[in-house]
Amino acid sequence: LVEFESAGELRDIFAELKPEKWYVLGEGNNTLFTRDYDGVLLTPVARGREVISEDDTMAMVRVAAGENWDEFVAWCVDRELWGVENLSAIPSSVGAAPVQNIGAYGAEVKDVISTVEYFDVETLEVVRLANADCEFGYRESCFKHALRGRGIILAVEFKLSKIARPNLGYGDVIAEVEKRGGATLRNIREAICDIRSSKLPDPKVLGNAGSFFKNPVVEREVADALTQQYSDMPRYGVPTDETKVKLAAGWLIDRSGLKGYRDGSVGVHDRQALVLVNHGGATGGEVLHFAEFVCSVVRTKFGVEIAPEVNIL
Ligand code: EPU
Repeated sequence: LVEFESAGELRDIFAELKPEKWYVLGEGNNTLFTRDYDGVLLTPVARGREVISEDDTMAMVRVAAGENWDEFVAWCVDRELWGVENLSAIPSSVGAAPVQNIGAYGAEVKDVISTVEYFDVETLEVVRLANADCEFGYRESCFKHALRGRGIILAVEFKLSKIARPNLGYGDVIAEVEKRGGATLRNIREAICDIRSSKLPDPKVLGNAGSFFKNPVVEREVADALTQQYSDMPRYGVPTDETKVKLAAGWLIDRSGLKGYRDGSVGVHDRQALVLVNHGGATGGEVLHFAEFVCSVVRTKFGVEIAPEVNIL
């Protein structure tokens, strides 16, 4: 495992060591190792958050890849900068956030990213990629596809608002914010942190990678047929494609009877079925095997394919 701070260090590593196999490991929250990794793990450790330009309405903030995501969110909230508060308490490094376009409670990081700066291991150059060129989608970006094995994120630039922009439409967010006295940044952050901790296990206490599966996107006819049978099934529109509907994998797993189900040391979390947990001592291979079992139960019951959201190595 090699820690790096700068493009210069990466240049040395790729020009001299020329690793054939490598993987960038941020804080490791979304990676499942199924065996020892027989390549080089590269970990960004660069720190730094700075306002690079601002006016009365917005601030452009540049953050190094090695910063912790939630410390960055807290920093924004302290400075009255809007845009990332709904993404409070997501375990991540800043460099990992754009890779899978982290999202929660009606917000996605793509909505506030202006530029991602990365090191290109083929040209050994630093490239600045504008938001529109990052191919962001639901838990997707070019860093998982065209730039996988090629781009290593060095820093992310965010465009944050100085004008209040509360985004409270998701689930019980508005009620929790009202309970705390209204839509201030601090109240929203506190509400989101509390909602998360009531449903999602703390990875420091109980091993997990957040949502293990992505919410599946299916054809509208498939969703309609399921709604006929299960009138309470949650479904969400896909803004970019009206012929598709996104289903809640957590609900599908829950209604397959697997919430809280456990096989040895691996299980489905008892408060949010989208999360698989390691009760202690399970190997990555056992987690993967269990995940395949969950997929097959959902397939049999609903005819819907769910796929892992975590990176499996
Ligand atoms: N549901 C159940 N049973 C469950 C879990 C969920 O019936 O065990 C139902 C809920 O009642 C709700 C629907 O399924 O009607 C959706 O559940 P929830 O609002 O908890 O969100 P999610 O779709 O399960 C997604 C993200 C989470 C994010 C939450 C909140 C994905 C893969 N997951 O989960 O992200 O925190 O929304 O915005 O999109 C992560 O990616 O690691 C993660 C935790």
